[in-house]
Amino acid sequence: MATTPLRIALVGDLHGAWDDADAAYFGSSDYHQVLVTGDLGNSGRGNGVKIAQSLSRIARDTLVMPGNNDAHDYAAIVAELHYQAGRSELLAGLVSSRRGSLLGSYRVQICGYSLHALRVDGFAVTIGAARPFAMGGSELSFASHLRNLFQIDSIEASTERLKTLVDKADTDHLVFFAHNGPTGLGASRRAPFGRDFHPEAGDWGDRDLAEAVAYAMRRGHAVSCVLAGHMHWSLRGGGGRSWHVEKDGVLYVNAARVPRHAVPRHAVPRHAVPNDAVPNDAVPNDAVPRHAVPNDAVPRHAVPNDAAHGQGIRRHHLALTLTPERATVEEVWVFL
Ligand SMILES: [Fe+2]
Repeated sequence: MATTPLRIALVGDLHGAWDDADAAYFGSSDYHQVLVTGDLGNSGRGNGVKIAQSLSRIARDTLVMPGNNDAHDYAAIVAELHYQAGRSELLAGLVSSRRGSLLGSYRVQICGYSLHALRVDGFAVTIGAARPFAMGGSELSFASHLRNLFQIDSIEASTERLKTLVDKADTDHLVFFAHNGPTGLGASRRAPFGRDFHPEAGDWGDRDLAEAVAYAMRRGHAVSCVLAGHMHWSLRGGGGRSWHVEKDGVLYVNAARVPRHAVPRHAVPRHAVPNDAVPNDAVPNDAVPRHAVPNDAVPRHAVPNDAAHGQGIRRHHLALTLTPERATVEEVWVFL
């Protein structure tokens, strides 16, 4: 009997490009799981909390990976998601005593050093959420946060924690989910997690994640895909990033198409990216682009300009399809 493919929506770094229309779209979609790679706000403290409030309205199982831009607002973001989840469960309890019916049938969760089961018909995978706040270069970014929240004080400790998660996973198939991707996918500036903000380029992946993936494979798991963001597609100095690659049977995906909202020409910009946005972190590539509509965007599913009528926004995400044999990814643009 053929297995129903698992469908995952992978939403790249938001940097403020998210609103309730996005939440409604994913809530009414047929995805089994929504994954958000993080960096919720576009600049300044507090912005990501408002985005978290909207994310919490997605009527679909959703995991939010905290990015480096979310570190300072982490507690408030978690509180926002918990508050909304609690409210949904309370309402569900009032409407029906059967959990899983009506309002209480979905959850939007923060993740990090955590495992999440995903099962459709006979096909089950475990999503392993990696180190939060990762900024690349195998550095332990936001070390004090990681120490206080997760008792992690080194990259080596992070590697061990991720391996422990692998040991606890009870399905053959695994999906790794992170803010920044692993080492080993190339050292050119165009590589999926290559350094484009330094003249010598280099591999800007994180080795704790790479070692966990390798460990999972040694332990006999089928690693379907490794999903991350952080390193924006639009490269410093021009050009675009190679955002997906298959290696040793594993699909690696970088979803950081920033900005993920594109305002059609002549449209009234409901989500204009402010020109004076200052990124919170030290990685220049993580800066919010100054132009809302990058020239190098070549969407495969773009809505033609003459269909735009000047009011809506084109919204980007990636669609993953997983079967026991393989994972595939395609770009999706929706116009709302
Ligand atoms: Fe980031």
